[in-house]
Formats: sequence, structure tokens, C-alpha cells
Amino acid sequence: MLVVYSYIACVSNRNSRYLPKKTKYPQKNRNSRGKRNSVFKPPLEVQYLNLSYAQLVEATDNFSFYNLIGEGTYGSVFKGKLGGGELIAVKVLDIQQQGAFESFMVECEALRKIRHRNILNILTACSTVTPSGSEFKALVFDYMPSGNLDLWVHPKADQKFRSRNLTLVERVNIAIDVATAINYLHNHCPTPVAHCDLKPSNVLLNENLTAHIADFGLARFLQNINEKGYEDQSSSVAIMGSIGYVPPEYGVGNHISLQGDVYSYGILLIELFTGKRPTDAMFMDELTLQKFVENQLSNGSQAAQVVDESLLSKKTRNLGERFEAGLQLILGVGLSCAKVRPSERIDIKDVVIQLVEVRQFLFH
Ligand SMILES: Nc1ncnc2c1ncn2[C@@H]1O[C@H](COP(=O)(O)OP(=O)(O)O)[C@@H](O)[C@H]1O
Ligand SMILES: [Mg+2]
Repeated sequence: MLVVYSYIACVSNRNSRYLPKKTKYPQKNRNSRGKRNSVFKPPLEVQYLNLSYAQLVEATDNFSFYNLIGEGTYGSVFKGKLGGGELIAVKVLDIQQQGAFESFMVECEALRKIRHRNILNILTACSTVTPSGSEFKALVFDYMPSGNLDLWVHPKADQKFRSRNLTLVERVNIAIDVATAINYLHNHCPTPVAHCDLKPSNVLLNENLTAHIADFGLARFLQNINEKGYEDQSSSVAIMGSIGYVPPEYGVGNHISLQGDVYSYGILLIELFTGKRPTDAMFMDELTLQKFVENQLSNGSQAAQVVDESLLSKKTRNLGERFEAGLQLILGVGLSCAKVRPSERIDIKDVVIQLVEVRQFLFH
């Protein structure tokens, strides 16, 4: 039987920029002292440009349950180990799921054009027919050993990725990483990209807890943005984001906008520092997470009373008044992002500037 191993053209094209040339990737290198280094390795996406279905089967131990690290709307994510010992994450699409194919294509298309230190790196895509004749589609990424941010913010029984609480400085750094990636998508890509599904489980952490935005299955290129930051198209767009993070205007059929991402980021930022989910049972009717924080602060409560308890350590208390002032500023940024009216929301580039200033204020 003929097995077709074909690779999604878009990803191959993207990688062709990195195609190895003999002179570019010498096998041996000399270091500054003239000694020979061990074998010089080109980036993973060069070494594994042509990952086949068979290689993915081998890497994931036949997509074993023990390697299952994530399950989402459109498929499952498996940890894998390549021949050279490198770790990968393989996102296998559930072809039966309605909308899965579109999500796969969107993620391919978005990630083909995007490369940033705070955005999950795609290695390749695999679109083929398995030996048993079923359709198989998967995206292959760098493996993020510290899992997703949701697992860190909300302690669970399964502590595979998280052995302790995030410290204040780690949370500030993660908040800046995520805002920096969004700023890149909104303000520095040739065509602005709206992620449309920002939430803690779509933020992945590497071994140093550097944050990477992942899951571009709902992303949109906003070709014709008007001066208000909306996509200038006559038809409104139906969108599914995640409950608690979707901006209120999307619910009434408004166009996708960059401000929509800013809203979701604001919720994520407040969640990161309060440890409370927007979907917590305590938030119902008019009371939202952001309203709760706003009410507390305007009633004269200390920010320290609304933040995640684990932040109230001896170390943070040593920061004295700077701790309270810094948290007020951070929560204030979150509230400016999560305004109900899109036009009142702050631009993400100003979020980056303000959070970097807060970090400077707190830790220098
Ligand atoms: N590269 C990766 N490294 C480690 N874990 C990952 C990786 N990619 C995904 N995951 C895990 O799988 C989960 C689902 O992945 P995601 O890309 O968000 O797909 P979905 O569309 O199914 O939500 C993530 O929340 C994370 O826990
Ligand atoms: Mg996801």
C-alpha cells in the first residue's frame, strides 16, 4: 500500500528559509581558543524538516497514553522523543471533530509567518494517510517542560509540572513575556494578528519559566484594520473563544479586534496575580473578576488582600510599601485592559512599557 508522507506546504516553505547548506552548518566548529567543539547542531527545525508519521509514532511510543500531555477541543498533544534525544510536542488533530481542519490550517498559516522568543516554536507539520488508511494531521512543536500557566496558577492534585508556587518576580516576568508576544502580533507583524484565545492554558513555560503563547487555532490575520483597530469587513464574525476570557462585544456579534485580545490579556493578568479564575463560582450576575478587584481597591482595600495568598511571603513583605504599590499598579494595568468598552482599553504596547516600569520599581 502506498503511504503518502506529505508535509503541509506552508510549513515546508517557512522552513525552507533554514534549509541546511553545507557551508552554513559545518559538522565541526572551532571555539575561540581554536579547540574543536563537539559536533555543531543546526536548529531542530532544520534537522527534522521531514519528520514522517513513522518517526512520530516512534517518538511518542505509538501515541501512548503515558505521553499524553494535553487535550483540547480539536485533538490531543503528546510528548515525544526524537532519535537524537530531543523532546517535542505533537499536536494530533481529531479529524472527526467539526472545525478541526480549519483550526489546523489556521494554526499552520499563522505560525508559518511568526517567530518570536515568547511564541511557541513550530518545527514542522505532518499531513498524511496512516498505514491503516486513516487521515492524519499533526503539528510538531518544541516541548515546553514546565507545562502550561494554568497548572501553575491553580494548584491541582497532578503536580507533574509544578512543584511550587510562582514567585512575584516570576509572575511579573511571565506577564511581560505574554504582553511582549501580543505586542509583536498586534504591532510588529506585517499583517496584525489577533490570537483570539488568550488564557493561561494557552501560555506555555520552558525550563526557565519563560512564557510562550501557544494555540493559534483561532488566530486571525486582520488585513483591513480601521483606525479603531477593528477588522473593516462588512460581515460580522462568529467566534468561539473561551468563557471568561472572550470580550463582551464578541458575544453581540462584533468584529474581531486587537482590543479583544487586550481584554483577554487583562483577565489573564488579574488571574495571574489573584489566583482567581474568571469562571469561579463566586463570579455571577454582575460581579466579574475585574469588578471584584475594582470594588475591593476602590473600597480602600489593600491590593495585598486580593492577591494570591502564596504571594504574601516573607520575601515579598521585605519589599515593604513597594509591594503594595507595585501590585496596585499591576492590577491597575489589568483593569485598564479588561474594560467593557473596547475603545477604553489600553494599547498592548503601553502594557509592556508599564509592566517593565513596575518590574524596575519593584526589583531594582
Ligand atoms: N509544546 C508543548 N509543550 C508542552 N505542553 C504542550 C505543548 N503544546 C501543548 N501542550 C499542552 O497541551 C495543551 C493543549 O494544547 P493547545 O495547543 O492549547 O491545544 P488545544 O487547541 O487542544 O487547546 C496545553 O494547554 C499544554 O498543556
Ligand atoms: Mg489550548
